[in-house]
Amino acid sequence: YLSYRVVKPRHPVNPCIKKESPKVVDGYDIEELGESTSFCRCWRSSKFPLCDGAHNKYNIEQKDNVGPLIIKKK
Ligand code: FES
Repeated sequence: YLSYRVVKPRHPVNPCIKKESPKVVDGYDIEELGESTSFCRCWRSSKFPLCDGAHNKYNIEQKDNVGPLIIKKK
């Protein structure tokens, strides 16, 4: 038979956002977005799922190169 155990990751991608939830999912209607909207991909933004620039500090501290996803209306 198959069995598995839940293992807490040592270095989770998500350090602190909605940890009480089994899965973090956010959605927007396209009409809600402005001309340009930046979505966080570093999981450090205080405005998550929107980018607040926190990736700059994270990249310096962790020697990483993550950045936002930018959606622009034509
Ligand atoms: Fe996370 Fe900008 S704050 S990508």
